[in-house]
Amino acid sequence: MRSTLKQAGLALLAPSLVAASPVAKMAKRDASDYTDNAICAADALMAYYQSGDTGLWGKDLWWQSGNFLSALATLTSLNSDYYSEHNDVFSNTLNTATGYGNYANFLNDYYDDEGWWGNAWLDVYDVTQDQTYLNAAITIYNDIVGGLGTPCGGIWWSKDQTYVAAISNGLYIELAAGIAARVGSDQAGDYLAHAQQGWDWFFSVGLVGSDNMVSDGVDKDNNCAPTGAKFTYNQGVILGAAAELYKATGNQTILEQAAALANASSTAGSSVTDSNGILHDGCDTSDSCDDTAAMFKGPYVRGLRKLQLAYPQDNWKNFLLTNAQSIWNNDLDFTQSDSGSSCLLGEDWAGPYDTADAVTQGAALDALNAALAISQ
Ligand SMILES: *[C@@H]1O[C@H](CO)[C@@H](O)[C@H](O)[C@H]1NC(C)=O
Ligand SMILES: *[C@@H]1O[C@H](CO)[C@@H](O)[C@H](O)[C@H]1NC(C)=O
Repeated sequence: MRSTLKQAGLALLAPSLVAASPVAKMAKRDASDYTDNAICAADALMAYYQSGDTGLWGKDLWWQSGNFLSALATLTSLNSDYYSEHNDVFSNTLNTATGYGNYANFLNDYYDDEGWWGNAWLDVYDVTQDQTYLNAAITIYNDIVGGLGTPCGGIWWSKDQTYVAAISNGLYIELAAGIAARVGSDQAGDYLAHAQQGWDWFFSVGLVGSDNMVSDGVDKDNNCAPTGAKFTYNQGVILGAAAELYKATGNQTILEQAAALANASSTAGSSVTDSNGILHDGCDTSDSCDDTAAMFKGPYVRGLRKLQLAYPQDNWKNFLLTNAQSIWNNDLDFTQSDSGSSCLLGEDWAGPYDTADAVTQGAALDALNAALAISQ
């Protein structure tokens, strides 16, 4: 159901009248029409897809494209029409994107890049039930476990072994638990053991502060002390990992540990929200995020969506709906023409709309997906 005209009460008018009507041009769907809003946002993201070329969204957005693949998989799992329209993207990306940088099997020098893709292929597996994608995730996992063995524990950020980052570890834990939850129980043991060890490490090494906020990493040259800023994505990926680990174990303690992190970050006026509870990273307030930081909020809401589905809480639901509605009401460039509507979504979810690109579009789509998923 993608008609905006119906919303405006014009569905019964003859098409010629509708096309001529100035009301139709002004009509903007309600912020809570999550299905149509997510699809309109996804259409604009898909306009960046390099189908016959790199198989990425935008030529040079490598790890971000893993995020966009997750967002597309999620939306197609929630809307069968969208699945029919775009499921060819999954095999096309699997078969062509590795040509970018010669990253065979989606492996490069960065364990976080690998983790985005590994988790994305699990999302694609969920919607297609095609074993090929589960195998792709397992191949990636097998490379990532080679990153274990830092002096602080956990996995390295990259293969040059310079830094121990929260993000690569969060993604690794989510991937290990996610595979454990999807393979047969006879095969799950090793993945599960790695996931649980990774989880316990994450909460004991000092990454999680007494304020329940996740630091960017730990410093191997300074007694593994926490270091770096509080970014939304570090906080969110571990919430998704909790949902996967809970799925694999049924261990309620995992959910409670994650709940403390979700509460601390999603409350209004936290270090990653404004006074209205709208999610932001430091660069958002000055509209100065680069192609990396502009992505971060997407994985946060993706992780909180997964946690909310596993462990529903009113305060997280309100947070996710409030953010999706703020994007729609304050950070949208909407145009309606005879050929359809166009929905461009910007970087600062509190608004005002400035400009959109594949990254701002993809991150915002994660928020609309989350609102759709949790309100179904
Ligand atoms: C449940 O999770 C907690 C936190 O990670 C862990 O300490 C505990 O051992 C787990 N319980 C079981 C039965 O695995
Ligand atoms: C999270 O916040 C909700 C709402 O205030 C509260 O009910 C819940 O106990 C909190 N959970 C944790 C682990 O802090």
